[in-house]
Amino acid sequence: MTRPEQPLVNVRKKDQLRVCLNEDVEAHHITAGFDRYSFVHQGLPEVNAADIDLSLNLLGKKLAAPIIISSMTGGTEEAGAINRNLALAAQRLGVAMGVGSQRGGVENPSLAHTYQVRDVAPDILLLANLGAVQLNYGYSMKQCRQAVEMIGADALVLHLNPLQEALQTGGETNFGGLLAKIERICDELPVPVIVKEVGCGICLQAAEKLAAAGVAAIDVAGAGGTVWSEVEALCVDTDLARNVARAFASWGIPTAEAIKTVAGGIREVPCIGSGGIRTGVDAAKAIALGAAAVGIAGPVLRMAAISAEAVVAYLSEVKEELRLALFCLGKTRLEQLRGTPLLVKRE
Ligand SMILES: Cc1cc2nc3c(=O)[nH]c(=O)nc-3n(C[C@H](O)[C@H](O)[C@H](O)COP(=O)(O)O)c2cc1C
Repeated sequence: MTRPEQPLVNVRKKDQLRVCLNEDVEAHHITAGFDRYSFVHQGLPEVNAADIDLSLNLLGKKLAAPIIISSMTGGTEEAGAINRNLALAAQRLGVAMGVGSQRGGVENPSLAHTYQVRDVAPDILLLANLGAVQLNYGYSMKQCRQAVEMIGADALVLHLNPLQEALQTGGETNFGGLLAKIERICDELPVPVIVKEVGCGICLQAAEKLAAAGVAAIDVAGAGGTVWSEVEALCVDTDLARNVARAFASWGIPTAEAIKTVAGGIREVPCIGSGGIRTGVDAAKAIALGAAAVGIAGPVLRMAAISAEAVVAYLSEVKEELRLALFCLGKTRLEQLRGTPLLVKRE
């Protein structure tokens, strides 16, 4: 399928990658909300640190730690190199990984290789990615299957990004009637479907509708990490568009709040906590609030632009911090951390 606006998609993705790698696009006007919580330290943890096990099963695959490298990139040679570094690190550490929106590869098969990482990451939980809104712009089951098959994915992520689309030049903003289309994809696609936001969060009402539509997991991707309104502010070329984008600098549901409401309200669908997870202590708080696993994008991207080893080094720190948090809470398994009363909200 070739569409006239396709080159614009590539230009945009390239611009966004450049901005995310070179500019400060971390939240400064809102936090992910983890700072409002603290754990009650256990001076007498009564566990052997050597017994701590961070592994879990997610969507039918075993992960060595509850970490997902969030969906980010693909579509250019630079993005392809980044995907390979991310995949090498994910394989080494036994964590999951998503590729960025595969619209570029669906519409131009010569770009497919920039998303393909199975040769270096044969065992990981690998997630395909498309914008859910594309289901209102000509995409259907065919393109969803194509995205999954292109990379040998275990699941498809459909991302919801109304604010981002609305702020970007030529964005696609008809979000009407999407739920029924997502439901059809969930019914018919042979692999599980995850729905995620991109940094503004998912509220309980939306999560309930998505759960009823049959999604296999909900990634809240809340506010407090990478700020897409700032990314777009740095990509657009008029003062009007830039000022409108900057008015949304503190927009969105802080990640901690989104996890608490979605995981607390919907027990049958795993909640992935992402948006501003930067340390293993943030991850521990996200899991204590109810997340099954956490996703990290921005910081991992910056490491992947250096090397796979840099990604391994950063994610090893996150893993170690999470392990120590469990130790100091007297827990050896993630199930014991989830919902623990040892996480308290500061007044
Ligand atoms: C450069 C870049 C590109 C992204 N592209 C996508 C994408 O194609 N699809 C998607 O679902 N999310 C995309 N995201 C959003 C991330 O998956 C994530 O939800 C968001 O950045 C918040 O996480 P963070 O605070 O850890 O960065 C992208 C993020 C970055 C930094």
